[in-house]
Amino acid sequence: MRKIYLSPSILTCPKEKVAEQLKIVSSEADYLHFDVMDGIFVPKKTFDYEYLKYVSKFHSLLNDVHLMVVNPIDMVEQYAKNGADIITFHYEAYDNREDILKCIERIHDNGCKAGISIKPLTSEEDIFDILQYVDLVLVMSVEPGKGGQKFLDGSAEKIAKLRKYIDDNNLKTLIEVDGGINEETFKLVAKAGVDIVVAGSYIFDSIDPLARIRSLKKWA
Ligand code: DX5
Ligand code: ZN
Repeated sequence: MRKIYLSPSILTCPKEKVAEQLKIVSSEADYLHFDVMDGIFVPKKTFDYEYLKYVSKFHSLLNDVHLMVVNPIDMVEQYAKNGADIITFHYEAYDNREDILKCIERIHDNGCKAGISIKPLTSEEDIFDILQYVDLVLVMSVEPGKGGQKFLDGSAEKIAKLRKYIDDNNLKTLIEVDGGINEETFKLVAKAGVDIVVAGSYIFDSIDPLARIRSLKKWA
């Protein structure tokens, strides 16, 4: 069976607790999912690259940066310089293929893996011809913008279709899912063929984050 990697999202983890929580989850997780929102692409504003640098002091995981911003290309260098290992941006942030390919190139030129993300209403077919250029595709299983939402029906099917396309075309692109993950939905996405699973509130809104991680890893 395919190995599934875990990427805890610190979006809902209070800043005063982040050091302690990261030390706890560091031993069991694979990536650290870092959500950047600009208040334009999505209503809320969240972390910046200074905070990425700060949290990186407390873990040895790979930094999985998720940019929910307009003009992501302008932020690539700052995040790459401050510890990003993967930089994922939204397909919907641009209205043409040329800009998307330029952004991917900028990420690679800055020494990071590049990911493209699709919102729930975007069809996986829209990005089939981009998959060959990226290291990862991030399927949003909730509307981007906040933690603690319910996993949307149809997300597992989207993952299964991407899995088929990637395998049929012998691509190496990894599939990541983000939003509404708990033990039940983890099982669904695992079955659909996901490679990396993001989980936020399920882990960090718990009194025992490590137990929550282990409950997911049982199915990995
Ligand atoms: C939502 C963010 C997610 C968020 C997931 O826009 O991209 O990474 O932290 O949180 P949960 O796991 O609570 O849905
Ligand atoms: Zn995210």
